[in-house]
Amino acid sequence: MKIIMLGAPGAGKGTQAKMLAEKYSIPHISTGDIFRANIKEGTELGKKAKEYMDKGLLVPDELVVDLVIDRFKADDCKNGYILDGFPRTIPQAEALDAALAAQGDKMDYAINVEVPDENIVNRMSGRRACVGCGATYHIKYNPTKVEGICDVCGKELILRDDDKPETVLNRLKVYHDQTQPLIDYYGKAGIVKEVDGTVDMNDVLNAIVEILGE
Ligand code: AP5
Ligand code: MG
Repeated sequence: MKIIMLGAPGAGKGTQAKMLAEKYSIPHISTGDIFRANIKEGTELGKKAKEYMDKGLLVPDELVVDLVIDRFKADDCKNGYILDGFPRTIPQAEALDAALAAQGDKMDYAINVEVPDENIVNRMSGRRACVGCGATYHIKYNPTKVEGICDVCGKELILRDDDKPETVLNRLKVYHDQTQPLIDYYGKAGIVKEVDGTVDMNDVLNAIVEILGE
């Protein structure tokens, strides 16, 4: 099962992708997580990506496409995978389709997690990410057992650099300009499924599982 998670920044793509990856035992491939890991390790890719990410802009397509295509050719992806944060532009989607077609393959589902802009800024300002393992929480909707400490690895939680309100507004604009057109693109391919992302995260998960099957 090959799935793309679509939705605005903060819609809950990562939250759902993580739960789906566990349920279906397939890898969760998040380009945002890959870039953040590279930033943390101080790699060349990380340095380049950070310049764009801190402004709320997209990293150029040429830095993203090969990275994802190489990743899903790995052995652990043979039963499927969940793409979170990729593709994000029409050229990325076209490159993905071409790479899949070359293997005689195609995407199965594009799940669009719908959350209106009004809810987004509020969600992002409450999000906390673990400096150690990258696990994501929300101070109100998904709190840790001990405030400020990761439930998984015990490290400290931080506000992501790009979750400051002014950057979030930029990311939303970039989303509407460059990523939202993918809903139409995959709609034409007949694989878009819409879910309401404003309800409790477990209810969002149930709605997606109903689409994908047990
Ligand atoms: P990326 O990391 O992908 O960020 P994003 O798309 O902006 O999305 P987020 O991770 O912010 O949100 P999410 O939908 O995963 O929400 P989450 O589950 O955390 O990308 C970051 C940057 O990297 C980009 O801006 C770009 O620069 C670059 N980049 C990445 N991929 C790229 C690509 N392909 N091309 C070019 N550039 C690329 O949830 C948000 C919060 O809400 C959490 O606190 C969570 O606990 C809470 N929450 C989740 N669900 C619910 C719910 N149902 N109810 C209440 N709260 C909820
Ligand atoms: Mg995410």
